[in-house]
This record gives sequence, structure tokens and C-alpha cells, in this order.
Amino acid sequence: MIERTLVLFKPDTVQRGLMGRVLGRFEDAGLKMVGCKMVWADKERSKKHYEEHVEKGFYPGLENMITEGPVLAMVFEGIEAVALIRKMVGGTEPKSAAPGTIRGDFAHASYGWADSKKIGLKNLIHASATLKEAKAEVELWFAGNELHSYKNVHEAHILN
Ligand code: RTP
Ligand code: MG
Repeated sequence: MIERTLVLFKPDTVQRGLMGRVLGRFEDAGLKMVGCKMVWADKERSKKHYEEHVEKGFYPGLENMITEGPVLAMVFEGIEAVALIRKMVGGTEPKSAAPGTIRGDFAHASYGWADSKKIGLKNLIHASATLKEAKAEVELWFAGNELHSYKNVHEAHILN
């Protein structure tokens, strides 16, 4: 039940200086960071990461958005972490994402706005949707020796 999942702080989070505040939410929840690096993704990496969307109309805007600056790529570990982090991230569209979620609290753009501007929907963060996707995405973004196993206080206070 201990899972690892990929989180990307998209270029809007990096450029808006929100990395610390958003990361704090995951630390507050007791999730353990086991990998972290800044990566400026190229088009090839975008196509691999967003393989399921490459043929869709919004893909060009999405590719421009995800490659316009560096992302902060991280792997978090925790109890059923994949679903937990998706819940914390919130719905895809900031306009309709619930208050209290990262997308609901830190942005307000809508699909209509993004489509009218032909830009990617800026929603701060990517998180793997399923355990299968998490395994593939962690492998795409991280080498084995960039991931760490260590003990933190949560072994005593959250996992027991
Ligand atoms: P992500 O993969 O980034 O975690 O987001 P998600 O699962 O919530 O949403 P997904 O359907 O996988 O879409 C991937 C990203 O593409 C952008 N998008 N734009 N203009 C549009 O209609 C549209 N639809 C999706 C968003 O940045 C979304 O996070
Ligand atoms: Mg997705």
C-alpha cells in the first residue's frame, strides 16, 4: 500500500514562485519526497509524458506550456499516494477545481479561456493518475540512482 508517484510542478508554478508553498502541502500531509530535480523538458519528453494526448486538439498548446521553462520533478512516497495526491491536486480545470485543492486555490483559468487563447491550461501541477501510470512516469523522469530510500519522522508518527 506504500506507493510512489510522480509530481511535476509545471513552469507556471516555478515562474510564479509558488514551489515552496505547494511543496509544503505535501510535506504537511506526511508524504516523503524520495526524488527531486529541475528539468527543462523538450518536445520529445513532452510527447512521451503526454502520450495519451498527442493526437488531441489541445496538445500543441499543452506542449508549448510544459516546455516553456523548467519544471520541478519529484517523486513522493506514502500510503496510497497516487490517489491521495490526485485528491490534493484537484480537478484539471482550475475554475472548477474544489477550494482547498492546489489547482482550486492557486489558479482560476478555465478551458474556455485556454481554448480561446490557444494556450495550454495553466493548472500548476501534474500528478500520476494511476499506479500503472506512476510506475511508467517515475521511470521516464528519474534514473534509479536518483531515488532515495530513507527513514523520516513519519515512520513513527504517520505510518504506525
Ligand atoms: P495532468 O496529466 O497534467 O496531471 O492533468 P490531468 O490528468 O488533470 O488532465 P489531463 O486530461 O491528463 O490533461 C493534461 C493537461 O493538459 C492540459 N489540458 N488542456 N485546453 C484543454 O482543453 C486542455 N485539456 C487539458 C492541462 O494542463 C492538463 O493538466
Ligand atoms: Mg493526466
